This record gives sequence, structure tokens and C-alpha cells, in this order.
Amino acid sequence: MAEIGVIGGSGFYSFLSGARTVEVTTPFGAPSEMPVVGVVGGREVAFIPRHGGDHRFPAHRVNYRANLFALHRLGVRQVLAPCAVGSLRESLTPGTLVVPDQFVDRTWGREHTVYDGTGPVVHVSVADPYCPAGRAAVIAAGNGSVVAEGTMVVINGPRFSTRAESQWHAAQGWSVVGMTGAPEASIARELALCYTSVAVVTDHDAGVSVGGGVTQAEVFEVFGRSIERLKGLLTEVIGQLPKVDEDCTCRHALDGTAGEDLW
Ligand code: ADE
Repeated sequence: MAEIGVIGGSGFYSFLSGARTVEVTTPFGAPSEMPVVGVVGGREVAFIPRHGGDHRFPAHRVNYRANLFALHRLGVRQVLAPCAVGSLRESLTPGTLVVPDQFVDRTWGREHTVYDGTGPVVHVSVADPYCPAGRAAVIAAGNGSVVAEGTMVVINGPRFSTRAESQWHAAQGWSVVGMTGAPEASIARELALCYTSVAVVTDHDAGVSVGGGVTQAEVFEVFGRSIERLKGLLTEVIGQLPKVDEDCTCRHALDGTAGEDLW
């Protein structure tokens, strides 16, 4: 069992001490990799590498439902979700950490709900999609070094945006662009899990940069360089997360719906 879940790059394997792999089944198939459970900051943490240990799943093929359900089945209540994003603003330079407070979902064709008509019909609110306590813990641990708000637009990928798409995203007032933030965040809410995104800016997206646009190499390189800092931050966050916060709004996402006693 674990109380906190991390879904992130495979660089996070080394994050956990005393790690062991736990076999879990889910109604939605297999997670990207079986979760590894270990201790971080004195707390039991389960980790799943979002794209698989060998990065074999592109963002549009990640089984977000299975990943989140697997964590849920292990007893996880709080999910921390680091991800790589491009910047839609000059001022958000590569290496910056952003704690988004909103997302815009421009993905398509992904299994995006655990309430897909095979069971009860359930509508959850995602007006404020991220956990207030999780966000506060990351912002506090960042101690002024993280950007404490921002809207993340999530594109389907695997291609990056055209310059026109990117300029349009920026003109909407959105600040960063990624490929994995949705439907991950809303599925977490559907399972009444607390979910906090921690976005690492790896590049200036095509609309901001003057060069030939983003490259995969650039994204991997900058994300790789940020991993140690991210692990340090998350270790601190994990130590500070409230134990069991039954009052958190995320925990009540299913109150009054047919999903209330489902899981
Ligand atoms: N992930 C990292 N950089 C990105 C970008 N520019 N667009 C979409 N996803 C990204």
C-alpha cells in the first residue's frame, strides 16, 4: 500500500528507497508499468513511469485510466504529476517550474473517462482541476522558485504545434503547452484522487521562439537536466503533504453521484 503516487519520467525510479514492484490489476488494462512502491521523505510512495520504463508509450497511447486506477488500488490519495511543457511566454524560460491552476484539453481520441457508459453515468466538476493542498505544498516547498499559477493547454501530439497554433494558444492567455496533462488530471478527479501537476518548462514553443521550432532532443535534454531538482522538490513536498485530508474538496468529487460508493 502507498499513500502518495508519483507519475513521471523513468528518471524517478531512483527516487524511492527500498523500492519493490507491486503487481496490480485494473478494470482498464495494464498500467504503463507495474507500480514501484518505496519510501520518500518518510512516506510510502508508489511510482509509475508515465511513458513506460523504456518510454515506449507516446502521450496519446498512455493508459491514463489504468495508471491512475493502479495507484488508487494501492491506496494512494495524493498524486504528484511532473511533466515536460513548452513555454508560451518569453518570461517562462527553460528550466522554470510551473504549478498550473487550470488546463485546457485539446486532446482527442484518448480514453478520457472511467465513466464511459459501462457503469453508472457520473459527471464530476473539474472547475478547479488541481488539488489545493497539493498545489500549496509544491508552492511552499518551491520557496519562491516556482511559478505559482498558469494554464496548461494539452495538445494531442505526438507532433509539436505549428507556429500559428502556438501563437493562438499564447493569445488565449495560456502559459504552457504539454501533451500529458489531460485526461490525466480529470481521470484523477473522477477517482476522487488529489492531483497536482508540476510542469517543467523545457523549451519555448514555436510561437515564442524565432528558430526552427521545438525539437525532441531539446525537450529530453532540458527535462533530464531538471530531474534532480524536481526530485529534491518533490521529496520536500511529500514530507509536507497532509496525512489523510478527508476535508479536501478532491476527496468529495463523487459526493451525491452514482460513483460515490463505486470504487
Ligand atoms: N512538451 C515539452 N515541450 C512541449 C511543447 N513545446 N509542446 C508540447 N508538449 C511539450
